[in-house]
Amino acid sequence: MSNDLTDKTAFITGAAHGQGRATALALAREGVNIIAFDIAETLQYPGYKLGTPKDLESLAKECSSLGVRCLPFAGDVRKDDDIVKAVDRAVQEFGKIDILFNNAGICAYGLAHELTENEWDVMLDINLKGAWMVARRIIPLMIKQRGGVIINNSSVAGLRGMNRLSHYAASKWGLTGLTKSWAIELAPHNIRVISIHPTGVNTPMNDGLAELEGLTPKEIGEKSAGNLINVPWVEPEDVANAVVFLASGKSRFVTGSQFVLDAGLLSK
Ligand SMILES: NC(=O)c1ccc[n+]([C@@H]2O[C@H](COP(=O)([O-])OP(=O)(O)OC[C@H]3O[C@@H](n4cnc5c(N)ncnc54)[C@H](O)[C@@H]3O)[C@@H](O)[C@H]2O)c1
Repeated sequence: MSNDLTDKTAFITGAAHGQGRATALALAREGVNIIAFDIAETLQYPGYKLGTPKDLESLAKECSSLGVRCLPFAGDVRKDDDIVKAVDRAVQEFGKIDILFNNAGICAYGLAHELTENEWDVMLDINLKGAWMVARRIIPLMIKQRGGVIINNSSVAGLRGMNRLSHYAASKWGLTGLTKSWAIELAPHNIRVISIHPTGVNTPMNDGLAELEGLTPKEIGEKSAGNLINVPWVEPEDVANAVVFLASGKSRFVTGSQFVLDAGLLSK
């Protein structure tokens, strides 16, 4: 798509599965080296299957077959020690981080008055605080390098209300606010910050939610899809293509804005 990405380095959270993995592979095809950061274990909440160490290893192999290097790293976006170790490894190996894709996230249904405090905290800690925890360790490098791109994976839930997803929506609206504020703070350092807002994406997250809700993955997709253009699912590769464009010089005027992949949902 664009060759100004060759030899860049991308730090991707939640890289083992779904959108993170598809994006790692799409960037690898453009010649980008990857730090694939993922918790690589399943958590009691939300309870569906998250990434595994095997997923990370197989991603690293696929990236090398595309001619780039990929460092797999098992770590939690809620743990500063894990983040600092991964960033230090990245700097040792690649000397820089040009692109941060804040993508790690969980989702779970629940009415606001029935959520436990723990469920609220886990959702906000991973989806919102986690993005800040990672960014605050990478921004100083980008400032030193005089440039970079940060892409936050929000959701259509970061631009509208969602039934039984208020804690998820709160975390995703939070990412929209971080994006707009960081874009202002970081513009003097030539760092662009963008959020992306997919509707239901065909990933293990939706398979997991479907199982917990007693629905098929297709039914879960239909709950959130826009369908104006008869696309029941956004595929992980659709998100990956958007990230490649937004990370590249072809989108050099784009910062502080919200890139929506919703098949028309928000137009209704
Ligand atoms: N699937 C959808 O319908 C959809 C729609 C819009 C936005 N999103 C957002 O896109 C992002 C990616 O979702 P996905 O659909 O690929 O889901 P997924 O469950 O397939 O992948 C998420 C990855 O994040 C990792 N992860 C979870 N908690 C982590 C933590 N604490 N630290 C590090 N890694 C962690 C998981 O192990 C997993 O590999 C999420 O932020 C999600 O909220 C998803």
